[in-house]
Amino acid sequence: MNAMPQTIYQDIGGKDAVEAVVTDFYDQVLSDEQLTPYFDGMDMDELRAHQIQFISAVAGGPVNYTGDDMRKAHAYLDIDEEDFRVVGEYLKSALQMNGVDDENVEAIMVEVMAFKDPILNR
Ligand code: HEM
Repeated sequence: MNAMPQTIYQDIGGKDAVEAVVTDFYDQVLSDEQLTPYFDGMDMDELRAHQIQFISAVAGGPVNYTGDDMRKAHAYLDIDEEDFRVVGEYLKSALQMNGVDDENVEAIMVEVMAFKDPILNR
């Protein structure tokens, strides 16, 4: 039998794994007082749900992302380069905390970093 190669999503443990990553990601983001002002008054349940969809989709999972596009979601926030870098580090750390291996961490980070310019509205 010629098995299809696994997606990154399957490889890292699917839905449960992505949910755990996103929990650990926002725990770190919301513990950083440099970042909390961005999230004041946000619907964190919805944001969490959309982030789970987004990470699942970039990892090749069978999940539709139903949120706004990255430019629209972030444009009015006026995010600076340093805050973007720190949020990226928290995502990377959340992936590592959940046992995602280096190769898959790198692959997911490449996918996410491809959205840097839209997120910074450039
Ligand atoms: C590093 C890559 C990032 C990814 C993959 C990402 C992903 C997302 C996603 C999927 C949403 C949901 C959009 C929706 O619900 O329609 C969102 C919203 C949001 N993001 Fe990001 N984000 C990133 C970076 C950042 C940074 C650097 C900040 C702030 C420092 C930030 C702050 C927010 C806020 C406040 C919202 C809620 C916007 C709203 O509901 O009006 N994000 N992001």
